This record gives sequence, structure tokens and C-alpha cells, in this order.
Amino acid sequence: MKKIAVFTSGGDSPGMNACIRAVVRMSLYQGMEVFGIRRGYQGMIEGDILPMEQGSVSGIIQQGGTILRSARSQEFRTEAGRAKAYRQLQEAGIEGLVAIGGDGTFKGAQILMSEYPDIKIIGCPGTIDNDLYGTDFTIGYDTAINTAMNAIDNIKDTANAHDRLFFVEVMGRDAGFIALRAGIATGAEAVLVPESKTNIEHLIQTLEQGYIRKKKNSSIVVVAEGDDAGGAFTIAERVGKKFSQYEIKVTVLGHIQRGGRPTCMERVRASRMGIAAVQALQEGKAGLMVGEINNQIVLTPLELATKHHQEINPMLLEMVDILA
Ligand code: F6P
Repeated sequence: MKKIAVFTSGGDSPGMNACIRAVVRMSLYQGMEVFGIRRGYQGMIEGDILPMEQGSVSGIIQQGGTILRSARSQEFRTEAGRAKAYRQLQEAGIEGLVAIGGDGTFKGAQILMSEYPDIKIIGCPGTIDNDLYGTDFTIGYDTAINTAMNAIDNIKDTANAHDRLFFVEVMGRDAGFIALRAGIATGAEAVLVPESKTNIEHLIQTLEQGYIRKKKNSSIVVVAEGDDAGGAFTIAERVGKKFSQYEIKVTVLGHIQRGGRPTCMERVRASRMGIAAVQALQEGKAGLMVGEINNQIVLTPLELATKHHQEINPMLLEMVDILA
């Protein structure tokens, strides 16, 4: 393989830049030409493709976001859109792609490869949600949980200064991984995630025990945005009626979790995955996602990575109750 391209698609995540940098530098190291496609599949359709040099990725390893920008393309969902994208790749002589993104990005890659099998695609898992099957950790997750943890630490300071019950909503439309680890790390009273059914009565009991038996004067409940019982505002309203003696506050952390400087582990993991993706393309592999399982690089078919969902470890959920 002589020419490859890299792109980021879907929701951005911290560490994507480190991954782009690794793909570019590894390709050049191996004597290949490498291109960057801006704005994901939409940029592919529009031919927004630029050659990348050693210096194109200088000074980006510490930056959040993605220098290649990102998009969610409606046009790529159509056959005509994908035909345009394929023509652009052909014109540029691109034979292989590294797609950095999540579920939607990999579904798009699978459709493109089924229609145009001469295009080889390897995926790198880029999402803060950590919900992809085939890797212990996705690019962006470690930074996002540290951002959430620091924000919740700040909230705890002020919660302790008053008699307050805080509901903090973190990201995770379909997954509770951010809520779970950020909750454990901040000593949350309870963590509510979409993967397990929320029992409001049980939550009320847990909070009551905290106030009555353990004499706590403040509590934090971490809620994943996709929780089955609703977001933090809805849950706070339902629970708040029982705790009239405490002031109820709700904080939605939102997109601060998506940005920011990637952590050290993030940068290393993203770099390792970027190198592995280029290696896989060189070995003629395609339709696979690079993951890291037990500290080893593992390649998982994109089909499996998108069909399955990473499972929450029940022991971690139990830890929240034990430690509360
Ligand atoms: O990247 C995944 C995610 O963070 C979800 O947890 C969240 O619901 C979603 O992105 C929001 O995406 P956007 O800001 O692009 O609408």
C-alpha cells in the first residue's frame, strides 16, 4: 500500500489528535504517502483531502478536539453520496483509510467497503463513551472521566459547605461508563446508568441512610444522561420531594467533558492505536478495529465492534454501594 488517508468522524474526543499524529508519522516512517480528510465522510464526499507531512501534525499531541475536524454526514447515508466519496478517493489514489470514531463511523466504513471492496479501512475507537466492544478503553474516555472527576470534586467542596444534595449529570447517551468511574472516584452516594434499571425507592433509601445513620450533610448522585429513569433534573424532582430539609441542586456537565488536554494514558494509547492501524493496513488487513485489551493490541471485526456493546462490570456497580 502506497497511499493512505486518515479522518475523524462523529463526536470528537480528546486524544484524536494524538492518533492522527501517530497515523501520519508511522505512514511516513514506512515510506507511504499520507493524506488527511477534513470533516469526516462529508469531507470525503467533497474531496476535502490534504497531503500530510511530518510538520502537519507538530504540536498537536496535547490538544483536545481534532485538527481534521468532524461531522455527521447525511449525504454519506445515501448510495449517491458514497459513490461521490469513492470517486474522490480514487482520484487521490487512496487505497487505505484509518477511520477514527465510534459506532456510526464504523457502520459507515462497513457500508463503503461492502460497495467498494478495493478500499481498505481500519478503525480506531474514538469516543468518550467507552461503549465499543473490542477494547478495554476508547480514545477520549480517560480524559473525559478525569474532567468529570475534577468537576465533581469542585461540586463536593461547595456541597459540603451547605446541606445540599447534588445530582450531577455526565455524558453517556447509551452508556454509563463515564458515570460509573467518575462516581466511584468522587465517592458518590449513588451512580445511575442506562445499563441497569434505576430503582428510585432504593435510591431514596440509600440517601436516607447516608443522612440519618452516617450523618452526612451532603451527597452527590452521578447520573448518566441516558439513564432509564430520566436525566438529572427528572430524577432530582422525584427524589427531592422526600428530602425537603436539604437543598437540591442539579449540575449538567455537558460538553466540557468532550474537550480538554488529553491525559498521559490517552496520548500513549491513541498513539499506539494509530501505529497499529497503519501496520494493519500494510499487512493487507481491512474491516477491523484496533483495540487494547489487557494492554495488548487486539483487532476486532468492525461488524462485531458495532453489533455488541461493551458490558458494565457488575463489580464496579457494587463498589458504589459498598463504598457509599
Ligand atoms: O461522544 C458521545 C457523546 O458524548 C454522547 O455521550 C452524547 O450524548 C453525545 O456525544 C452528544 O453529541 P453531540 O454533542 O454531537 O450532539
